[in-house]
Amino acid sequence: MPCRRQGVCFRSPILHKHRSKQAQLLGSFCALGSVPVTCTAASYTSAPPACFVVSHMSETMALVPYDDTLAGGLLKFHQPAATFSFANRTIHIQQNWNKLGVAAVVWDAAVVLCTFLEMGTIDLGKRSAIELGAGTGLVGIVAALLGADVTITDRKVALEFLELNVRANLPTHIQQNVSVMELTWGNDLESFPRTFDLILGADIVYLEDTFEDLLKTLEHLCSEHTMILLACRIRYDRDQTFLTMLKRPFSVSEVHYDRNSDVHIFKATKGTITEEL
Ligand SMILES: C[S@@+](CC[C@H](N)C(=O)[O-])C[C@H]1O[C@@H](n2cnc3c(N)ncnc32)[C@H](O)[C@@H]1O
Repeated sequence: MPCRRQGVCFRSPILHKHRSKQAQLLGSFCALGSVPVTCTAASYTSAPPACFVVSHMSETMALVPYDDTLAGGLLKFHQPAATFSFANRTIHIQQNWNKLGVAAVVWDAAVVLCTFLEMGTIDLGKRSAIELGAGTGLVGIVAALLGADVTITDRKVALEFLELNVRANLPTHIQQNVSVMELTWGNDLESFPRTFDLILGADIVYLEDTFEDLLKTLEHLCSEHTMILLACRIRYDRDQTFLTMLKRPFSVSEVHYDRNSDVHIFKATKGTITEEL
């Protein structure tokens, strides 16, 4: 029975079914939100802990499950701010787990993708990029600091917080190259041109319900000269399923792996890009 309590998840099916430490952590993770939440178990029969789908107001969100590593790193999600050093600048990102959950904290995949961009394998100067599921916007901010024109997107509910972080971390002359926009995967895609050189996404492959729409969005945005870079932690078989789906319309290859955080970066292209961006 899905929990229907407001605010605190008292009856998560996972807590009832698997009284493991991980499951309890997952339950408490769910309880952390101060806003009304409704919890439903997406799947928990095969490999607990499973992904928890949380209906947050009218928006669908997901709680990324704990594993031992994540539990160890849990505290960082509760810090009101996180500081990074990229592109010769110090970047201060505000976080607010209690208000927005997954969209208001910086995930390892974002840090790994920023590090990869900073390595300079891809020349971002004057390139146009779009970031999907930007959360706090760290990746988009770094791409802009490295010279790209960036459209930073997420669901409507995340935009105010996202914009605040973006504006706070970019000097005025760079802000003019950046826009923050709503893009809920699969929706209103006609508003977005197919002219981007680069599509960026960090930790956006985690919720099976969104896979079709995410793929549709990538297909819409991607032209023959576009490069997609997805930074992913592969937590479950279903994440691998997305990669299989991605390989149908795109050529996919792994271009980087960060062992410390277990984050992979995959490149996907529609055609054969003969030269790197
Ligand atoms: C795990 S967070 C990653 C945030 C950020 N990219 C990072 O790595 O720090 C997943 C992000 O995907 C966004 N998201 C989830 N479902 C979405 C959807 N259907 N359309 C657009 N964005 C979505 C969430 O709002 C959230 O910001």
